Amino acid sequence: MCFVVVQITDCHLFADRSKELRDVATWPRFLKLLADLRERVPQCDLLVLTGDTAHDELAATYREIAGPLQPWRAKLQILPGNHDNREALAEVFPDVCRSTNQRLVFQRRSAPWTILGLDSHKPGELSGRLGAAQLNWLEQRLAEAGPSDQFLLMLHHPPIPVASAWLDAIGLEDAQELRDLAQRFRQVRLVTCGHVHQPIAGSFAHATVLSTGASGPCFQARSAQLRIIPQHPIYRVIELHENGEWTSQVVEVP
Ligand SMILES: [Fe+2]
Repeated sequence: MCFVVVQITDCHLFADRSKELRDVATWPRFLKLLADLRERVPQCDLLVLTGDTAHDELAATYREIAGPLQPWRAKLQILPGNHDNREALAEVFPDVCRSTNQRLVFQRRSAPWTILGLDSHKPGELSGRLGAAQLNWLEQRLAEAGPSDQFLLMLHHPPIPVASAWLDAIGLEDAQELRDLAQRFRQVRLVTCGHVHQPIAGSFAHATVLSTGASGPCFQARSAQLRIIPQHPIYRVIELHENGEWTSQVVEVP
């Protein structure tokens, strides 16, 4: 038996379903992705949207997505990205988005795994920041853990460089502070993020960092500037095993 986490990221949706982002119609991609997920991952235990859900940052957009996400509502978590509105998210999804230290974080447990959602949203900015209060909260969660516990951290901004100068300029500002924690607590095994609209893998203290392609537009890897490439919508499945191991697949929606 394993605990199945599905990550969808960077949907970049609008309240007006016909609106496009840089000539990419984001709503049809999102709906196709959900249909594929329903068919291909029926055993999903936790569905996490890791930010940039609403490109227009409107409560109306969150109300619009509530319908299509209804089948997963009891297992849903939504983290804010740079293109999101924390207050509007909490207003439309009060049962899903709960505030701790004014951040929308979550905690789920399936022994030996704990999944922690972190909020790197910085209002009005493209870069991200966890902040001292949230890092303290994280440190307390890690300090409570036993030696055989395992942690999956999920957040919008990647804490590692991604070889695209324009994205590295708008990364996670306090990545070093997060790295220091992950260095002290070996139980941090896996970190998954969005923001970069492309698959990335790297090491981070004792953990592996994975990002995934987007539900919305996908970006060219190793590019000095923003370049959109024709690619199907993508989501990630992560299986957390009882023996502390994990496996993951990137699923491209044809
Ligand atoms: Fe994004």
